[in-house]
Amino acid sequence: MRRKIVAGNWKMNGSEDLVRNLVNDVSNGMASLENCVEVVIIPPALYVRDVLSLVGQREAAVATGVQNVAPWDAGAYTGEISAAMAADVGCRYALVGHSERRQLFGETDELVAEKVRKVLASGLAVIVCVGETLAEREQGVAERVVARQVRAALAEVESADWPKVIVAYEPVWAIGTGKTATAADAQAMHQAIRKELSGLGAPESDVSVLYGGSVKPDNAAELFAQPDIDGGLIGGASLIADDFLGICQAAR
Ligand code: G3P
Repeated sequence: MRRKIVAGNWKMNGSEDLVRNLVNDVSNGMASLENCVEVVIIPPALYVRDVLSLVGQREAAVATGVQNVAPWDAGAYTGEISAAMAADVGCRYALVGHSERRQLFGETDELVAEKVRKVLASGLAVIVCVGETLAEREQGVAERVVARQVRAALAEVESADWPKVIVAYEPVWAIGTGKTATAADAQAMHQAIRKELSGLGAPESDVSVLYGGSVKPDNAAELFAQPDIDGGLIGGASLIADDFLGICQAAR
């Protein structure tokens, strides 16, 4: 049975007040999920320890992650953080290959693959982001682009590591735009991703595939009702506790 996961990617947003208020509100709402959904909070790296500390004081099973890691283990890489450091402080997830990093920082398929290797080697679970641009969708090559990204990122995953792999399909044109993929289009792409994963040797039940791109409380239920959508990677709505909890409820 694939895990239902809802992860909140705060991106470059947050403050100590937001961490305190949001983590407490989300933790208070966790009981209603009856352990049916794995909830992950992925704040800016500076706030990871604040989230860990607050979550650690509660019963709530909220996990914490980092939004990016370096493709190296340690050394003279000013400004970078390693997967091993994230694991060392208590994170359980690392996001890799988000479209904003691919577009703004030139992250290539090869770099994403190296980061996947570092995350899995550190013991963290990896959430690998894939997704096509509007131009690629309009040209009819969306599935081909996403399949390439999946193969490039995960071709070298060892069989024992598949349970630590999560894929997040985020059509670039739906991120932060209010335009969400239709449930049918999202399901079709998730089905194609699952076919690629199967071709790489990933057991069907091991890898959750999340949808991201303008997920809100009012569209989450239809998306998560699709057979190949196992939850969501949430941006803007993850900064509002009621909205984030509403999305988590929809994933039950
Ligand atoms: O990583 C999640 C993010 O890219 C989706 O953003 O604001 O469209 O939910 P948003």
